[in-house]
Amino acid sequence: MTPPRPTELAHLLLSDLIRKGDTVVDATCGNGHDTLFLAALVGEEGRVIAYDIQEAAIRETRALATHAKFGERVSLHHKSHAWMSEDLEVESVRAVVFNLGYLPGEDHVVTTEVDGTLKALEAAARAIEPEGGLSVVCYPGHEAGAVEAEAVEQWFSELPNKGWRVAKYAMLGTRKPAPFLLLGVKSRLQQTQ
Ligand SMILES: C[S@@+](CC[C@H](N)C(=O)[O-])C[C@H]1O[C@@H](n2cnc3c(N)ncnc32)[C@H](O)[C@@H]1O
Repeated sequence: MTPPRPTELAHLLLSDLIRKGDTVVDATCGNGHDTLFLAALVGEEGRVIAYDIQEAAIRETRALATHAKFGERVSLHHKSHAWMSEDLEVESVRAVVFNLGYLPGEDHVVTTEVDGTLKALEAAARAIEPEGGLSVVCYPGHEAGAVEAEAVEQWFSELPNKGWRVAKYAMLGTRKPAPFLLLGVKSRLQQTQ
């Protein structure tokens, strides 16, 4: 067995968590791979709400979803995930998924940033229903990514005080700081905030 990459492990765990008919969020839809994966999991009755600040990402994701005949279950928002609370009721979604950083093949200047990411994480934590999950893949291998990854891990480390169960997964012994997965599951008994 080869240990899965953080993105692969995230998919494995989300497959277990997400059910047909659920509403879920892809906070960084990029080339649309996560949105497509989520759209398959939620089925015909479910919904994926996806965000990206790049027109190219929205275009790619729309094309992928349409090609898979998932267009009707995917809502695309061309805006920052920092504003997702405008669209989401409290405890109304089963999972929120972040794959941080920049779009491979596009301008690396357009990347997720600490302030927006933390604001979006707060909104996500409010929007997730009890026993729902928050999955974030961080990329500390580049300068801005390292700063963001540290802030996000710090933010996650406070979640157990609010009744969440959280875990971290990463490869060891890599040349550069390896990408890592942070996963949180909201307790049935606790309110966030
Ligand atoms: C690593 S890529 C995501 C990959 C994607 N999930 C996939 O499956 O292809 C990160 C994405 O985050 C987007 N992004 C950066 N800042 C953002 C923000 N404030 N709100 C939403 N998306 C953002 C980038 O444009 C980029 O497309």
